[in-house]
Amino acid sequence: MVEAKLRNSWFTLIDETEIQSILYLLLEFIFGFEVCGYSYVSFFYFQEVFMNLKINDIHKFYGEKESRTEVLKGITCEVKDGEICVLLGPSGSGKSTLLNIIGGLESADSGSISIGNTDTDSMTDKELSQYRRDTLGFVFQFYNLIPDLTIKENIEVCAYLSPSPLDINELLDTLGLTDHQDKFPNQLSGGQQQRCAIGRALVKNPKLLLCDEPTGALDYKTSKEILELIEKINKRYKNTIVIVTHNQAIGSMADRILKLRDGKIVKDITNETKISAKALEW
Ligand SMILES: Nc1ncnc2c1ncn2[C@@H]1O[C@H](COP(=O)(O)OP(=O)(O)O)[C@@H](O)[C@H]1O
Ligand SMILES: [Mg+2]
Repeated sequence: MVEAKLRNSWFTLIDETEIQSILYLLLEFIFGFEVCGYSYVSFFYFQEVFMNLKINDIHKFYGEKESRTEVLKGITCEVKDGEICVLLGPSGSGKSTLLNIIGGLESADSGSISIGNTDTDSMTDKELSQYRRDTLGFVFQFYNLIPDLTIKENIEVCAYLSPSPLDINELLDTLGLTDHQDKFPNQLSGGQQQRCAIGRALVKNPKLLLCDEPTGALDYKTSKEILELIEKINKRYKNTIVIVTHNQAIGSMADRILKLRDGKIVKDITNETKISAKALEW
């Protein structure tokens, strides 16, 4: 009976191998596919994939009345999904203020920030803290680790915040901290502590990693090691990374260089001649 129905259906017009190919194509369409070694994600996931960071006409003032000063004077730029962007500028040019606004730690007086389809401007406080928790990782100049927790525990604490954290042992390996995981922060060098701070920011697998002068407290050799680690993370986990620095040389490892002066973007460069962090010199 069933057979008879099938025989009459359109399925009988094509043979079994053709049905398999059609099913395969259908699965590829839904879950993504691979061509020439590159993975492409299905049409259905496009909105997830292209998560460009858009900064639109941000203005920020500090102070009241006569002492009111405009620190950001209409910042507009875009960082593409998966890019390393270096935000360069002298001290006081507004780099940290801009980074904090991108990260929702401070609010702008006008303008908007969006990642993909998410516009932070229209968010309630609850949505904003969820956005910070789910989408962002922060790395600062000083590591701010919890002294009573081991290196592994410092990272684990943040893993609990995420529904889909990275594998901690694999991350410790990427960070070069496997052998130090049971030590406490004060038993490690500045560079190792910064690695741990990067791991803590990264373990929740944020789409956007914001680093404010991540090498500001480190010597030349250790700074380069940290920059190499950031580069490795970008390749492995494909996060978009914004690095704030006053060190011009660091710009050379970026896909995009934004030069900030006196609260304005004076140059927005797509870096066609990017070099590896290892090759940086200053
Ligand atoms: N909370 C604040 N209150 C008043 N002025 C501030 C505050 N934070 C930063 N500023 C001022 O805003 C300007 C930009 O600061 P900042 O963003 O920290 O610059 P950068 O990170 O490039 O050194 C500076 O002139 C600084 O003094
Ligand atoms: Mg700063």
